[in-house]
Parts: sequence; C-alpha cells; structure tokens
Amino acid sequence: MEGCKAGTQKKVLSIGLVCLDIIKVVSDFPREDTDQRCLDCLWRRGGNASNSASVLSLLGASSEFLGSFSAGPYLQFLQSDFKEYGISITHCPIYTETDSPVSVVIVNRKSGSRTILHTNKNLRELCFEDFKKINVKDAYYSWIHFEGRSNVSEIKKMLLYLREHNDASNESNHITTSLEVEKPERYSELRGLMDLADYIFVSKEVAQSLGYCEMKLAVNELVENCRQGGTVICPWGDCGAAAKRKCGTLIISPAFPPEEVIDTLGAGDTFIGAAVFALNQGENLQESVKFACKVAGAKCGIMGNQGLR
Ligand code: ADP
Ligand code: FRU
Repeated sequence: MEGCKAGTQKKVLSIGLVCLDIIKVVSDFPREDTDQRCLDCLWRRGGNASNSASVLSLLGASSEFLGSFSAGPYLQFLQSDFKEYGISITHCPIYTETDSPVSVVIVNRKSGSRTILHTNKNLRELCFEDFKKINVKDAYYSWIHFEGRSNVSEIKKMLLYLREHNDASNESNHITTSLEVEKPERYSELRGLMDLADYIFVSKEVAQSLGYCEMKLAVNELVENCRQGGTVICPWGDCGAAAKRKCGTLIISPAFPPEEVIDTLGAGDTFIGAAVFALNQGENLQESVKFACKVAGAKCGIMGNQGLR
C-alpha cells in the first residue's frame, strides 16, 4: 500500500464486528408462542464498528473497516454492501471454520424500539497479527476506532503499538484513537484500556450497570479512568449525550428527536460514527457531541441509515 500523498484524505479505520442483521418490522411486539404477520423483513449489514464505518462514509470520510469475516453464505452480501457504501475492507481476514454472526432484530414500528437476538458461533476475533498488516507508518490513517470486544489483550497490543507510533512520529502523522465500551459484562476487562485511547465511548447500559442514573454523574466519574488529556463520551438515548475531557469542563448536548421514532437500531453506532467524523475534522468537543446527537436523532427517524447521506 502506498503512503498518503499530499492532499489525499487520510482514512478513518473502524475495528470490530460485522454481522448480518435480519430485521423483522412489526406493528406490535410479539407475544410468546403466537403466529404474527410482519410489516417487512430486511437484510442489512450490521455490527457496531461496521455501522459506524457506514456513517463515517455517508458523512464523507474516507472509511475503512477491519474485522473478521466468515466464508459462509452471507460473505458476498456483506462484502458487496461495504462496497456500495464505499468502505474499504482490504485487510479483513476471512475464516472458513465457522458461520458469520447473525442477529435477528425485531423493530417495533410503534415505538422504533429494536430487540436484538444475536448469535456468534465463535468466529475468530481480530488479532494483533491481522492489525499489523495495515500501514500505520505512512500517514495513511488519521483516526482508528476500536469496538471493545472479547479480544481485549489483542486490542491492548494494537493500542500500545499506536502509542509507540505516535511517540515516534511528528504531530502531523499522529493517529487519534477511540474505544467503545458497550457491554456491561466486558467493562471490568475493558476498563484497563481506558487510559490507552484518546476518546472513550461508554454506553448508557454500561454506565447504568455501574450505578450511574444520569449521564453527567457518569462522565464526571468515568473520566478519571482516562489518560491525561483523554476524553469520555456517554450517549444517553433520548436524553442526548454528555462528555468530559480530563481536567476539562462538563459538556452536555440535548437529543434531537425526529418527528417520529421509526428505527433505533444502530443509533449508538451512528452517534459514534458522527462524533468521530466531527472530531476528526477538527471540530471542538461541544460541537462534535451536538453534531453526533443531531445525526443519531435523524437516524432514529428513518429506516436504516442510507437517508443520512
Ligand atoms: P444505543 O443504540 O447504543 O442503545 P443510545 O440509545 O444511547 O444508543 O443512543 C445513542 C444516541 O442516539 C443518543 O445519544 C441520542 O443522540 C440518539 N437517540 C437515541 N434515541 C433517541 C430518541 N428516541 N430521540 C432522539 N435521539 C435519540
Ligand atoms: C447495533 C448492532 C447490530 C448488531 C448488534 C450486535 O448496535 O451492531 O447491527 O446486530 O448490534 O450486537
């Protein structure tokens, strides 16, 4: 791969899960052991990092995704969808030993709620050796975002590698890093990585599992786990989002609700994609969080994310 030529847009890389989302749109949430007709059934490319990569691309970033694929029956669908969105997947490993992760998602047309039933038969997670195939040296990437998954020790190696790269390069070649901490059951392990990335996205679910009943309190305390100059950002559903840089002031944005909430699947991933986009463009924290709430709010008002383009 060539280095980044002067004037070429540097890439934003999103690392994490890609899966197939089979979406059932219903007019009423089903009761157990009933037989109900759905309003629609759609296939979409899903997974947190894959969704954030889509939003980055739709907003105009040069977007790349890195994560494991299964060579099973959905490979072509997923690959061609990345292509349609203009997202590069050049460095993704493809494994033959297991199926692709799949979610069946019930989207309730009445409330826009999404209920996710996810299956992952142990598709191998990305490892440091896969990551080393990307070219971090030649000013090719400006930002690398990590979805905090079960490969915590491998992500740690990647973040330390990027730290070494940054320490050895001049300012213009620095790569900004971010990490999503989304699942409460992974918090205890991922907590140890919170001082290795520049921006930490902590989900409302994780914050609530730690006992925080509001976003201000959550960011005020969680920022203490960040490195000097690090930032914690906490999206909080229809309340908007809060953020704080270590030793900085508290930042709050309201939510920007659409006229009607249609589909909240991937709202959090959209928020992250939009926040990374704005920060990567050099926007300040307050404006970036507000922008992310606007884009995520707009997403809740449409099916999927194509309409954000
Ligand atoms: P997740 O999809 O991961 O559960 P959240 O529910 O925290 O994520 O939502 C992420 C962001 O999406 C929020 O910060 C907010 O900006 C936006 N959002 C989510 N739900 C709504 C809603 N009902 N109205 C307006 N914005 C919303
Ligand atoms: C939404 C999402 C879906 C996927 C699921 C995986 O945030 O990424 O696209 O099915 O979560 O947990």
